[in-house]
Amino acid sequence: MWFVRFLVSSIGKKFIMAASGLLLFLFLCTHVAGNATIFMSSKVFQSYADELHSHPLIVLVFSLGLLGVFLAHIFVGLYLFYQNRAVSNSRYAVCTRVVKYSFASETMPYTGLFLLVFLVVHVFGFTFSPKTVLISVTVQQLLSNFFYALFYILGFVALTIHLSHGFWSMLQTFGFNHPRYNFLISRLTIVIPLFFFLVFAGIAFYFMTGLGASY
Ligand code: HEM
Repeated sequence: MWFVRFLVSSIGKKFIMAASGLLLFLFLCTHVAGNATIFMSSKVFQSYADELHSHPLIVLVFSLGLLGVFLAHIFVGLYLFYQNRAVSNSRYAVCTRVVKYSFASETMPYTGLFLLVFLVVHVFGFTFSPKTVLISVTVQQLLSNFFYALFYILGFVALTIHLSHGFWSMLQTFGFNHPRYNFLISRLTIVIPLFFFLVFAGIAFYFMTGLGASY
């Protein structure tokens, strides 16, 4: 079938990376908005979490879909990384990649793998936390631990670096490359990851410094 042939081709794999990256980005937008309610009060955050869990079927379908998207992004990403490395190690290879080389682009697999470790710790800490304790209390308890919060902040640094190249790369794959918009795109690849960093790290900082002790 043409669609399967497309997906296993090189451009198809780039497309899988861009499409899964876009879905993960949309997930992050909803997650950052929901988590930002922590700054209002534990009550507001708890009622947001309760509202979410009052639709268990939607949560289950969403979580399984998200897991599938993460797995596709990780496996295809690692495949492309090893393939590119094999090509650049070959004496006869001619490199035809059009890539913006930067610290972020060169460290994509490493920031990605660190994010994977972060996600495993995060999901075990929060999603699979004991249901007898309110999630608003779990967030406060875990992030009040200095080293736990520090690990989170390192995770957000990795996320910021990963997003700054990933966002640019996704737009290239989708064909957003025009002299008129390239300046705007280069600004967005800084502003958007920085926004996520400020909100997520702000939450970790809020609890680790004791500012959120009576939230
Ligand atoms: C300080 C920042 C963050 C806080 C306070 C936070 C909080 C939470 C909470 C409370 C849950 C459990 C939701 C529930 O089951 O009720 C959760 C789940 C999750 N978080 Fe975060 N999160 C943060 C940052 C992140 C980041 C940066 C990512 C991605 C890189 C992320 C990815 C996830 C994923 C994948 C889940 C599981 C979603 C699901 O079960 O469907 N989180 N987070």
